[in-house]
Amino acid sequence: MELQKKLQSHGSWVGKWTFILAATGSAVGLGNIWGFPYKAGTNGGGAFVLIYLTCILIIGLPILMSEIIIGRRSGTSPINSMLSAAKDSNRSSLWRFIGWSGISAGVLILSFYSVIAGICLNYIFIAAFSTGEISSSEQFSIVTESSINLLIWHSIFIILTASIVSAGIDKGIGRMVKILMPMLGIILVFMVINGIINGAFSKALSFLFSPDFSNVTSQTFIEAMGQAFFSLSLGMGSIMAYGAYMPKEQKVGSTSLTVVSLDTLVALFAGLAIFPIIFAFGLEAGSGPGLVFVSILTAFNQMEFGQLIGPLFFILLSVAALSSSISLLEPVVAYLSEERILSRGLAAALISFFIWLLGIGSALSFNLWSDKTIILNKNFLDTMDFLANQILLPFGGMMIAIFVGWFMKESLIKDELNDVSGITYNIWRFFVKYIAPIGVAFIFYSFVRQFF
Ligand code: TRP
Repeated sequence: MELQKKLQSHGSWVGKWTFILAATGSAVGLGNIWGFPYKAGTNGGGAFVLIYLTCILIIGLPILMSEIIIGRRSGTSPINSMLSAAKDSNRSSLWRFIGWSGISAGVLILSFYSVIAGICLNYIFIAAFSTGEISSSEQFSIVTESSINLLIWHSIFIILTASIVSAGIDKGIGRMVKILMPMLGIILVFMVINGIINGAFSKALSFLFSPDFSNVTSQTFIEAMGQAFFSLSLGMGSIMAYGAYMPKEQKVGSTSLTVVSLDTLVALFAGLAIFPIIFAFGLEAGSGPGLVFVSILTAFNQMEFGQLIGPLFFILLSVAALSSSISLLEPVVAYLSEERILSRGLAAALISFFIWLLGIGSALSFNLWSDKTIILNKNFLDTMDFLANQILLPFGGMMIAIFVGWFMKESLIKDELNDVSGITYNIWRFFVKYIAPIGVAFIFYSFVRQFF
């Protein structure tokens, strides 16, 4: 009865494609198009990409399936899903704290995510009016030098996110994603073709795909793993929360594989669109968070109809960011509203106000606070990014894998994994039980060891 009530407070998504679209909408975002290329660039290319892809396959995919299993069987927010999965497996209710650590990660991530997404919104207009008179690196400096400018766009983006979440994510988002995400895919393919024709494509290929392990450190590993979790939206309950809306007859295994493949494809295409331009125009591959803005604008400035295609690209990127940001806010809002602590609208407003405040620090990292370091010589934005992506998400993911692999009743798991059986099931189970937790633990260990 109690559970029934909670279920009704969320509604459920109809149609086979809706979950795939929503989960892909969550996964595909700034992480793929902004994060992946710049992190590949600062970490030297090929080796990072190879470690990233390995993490996606052996850690990401098994954990993604685990999150869906936990979320879908109870149909509630991550904290309550963990609680009910633990209770029904006769385990301690302390497992629900994984849900709490996830919510904190979501808040940290959204605070800087919104600042970057705000820059995307700003670039819709910059790309429309850019005449190429000033270089695109100068243009990026102008945009980020002004803290007021960044804060305005940050505010707009967080208001957009909060409005959608407070209305309830089953209303309309699916439809938006269904039309606009394929368009983003098409424009990315177009940019890759542009890179083949006008850029240094073979140089980009060898940068991204011929690994040079001579500079690989524990830093490379932890960044690649963090990027894998971030890109797949794992470790904080986004996928768990969306799994809660997934219809029972939908297949968990094949759906997960689709989401993971689409996400990875978009990241690789973003790399193949951006690096040919970087090498052709002598831009700096390791220049950091500005990479995508500088290189993409350079390409549009050169291109016929660039002033039309450019804004379109940034509109679509902003939509992709929005369909991700709502999944960062949803778990905490779903929790507060299903517990009847706050109404959906009020929860969304209050939490996003707090996130907005936290985001100011990230906005200032580009200008006033650019020299202020918080931990490990990182500025505010990099500190948030580090704490959330490289610590909280892998930790949350590891705990989810340990829970499903070692503590959850197997019959409950099998009820959900309707299309995975026999040998595939055993392989999946082996990865959840051993490979994923040990992989994360090992990367943590080697990272911590470097300080001693
Ligand atoms: N995956 C999204 C991206 O690549 C961001 C995101 C959405 C996310 N929900 C998340 C990251 C949950 C970590 C955890 O842009």
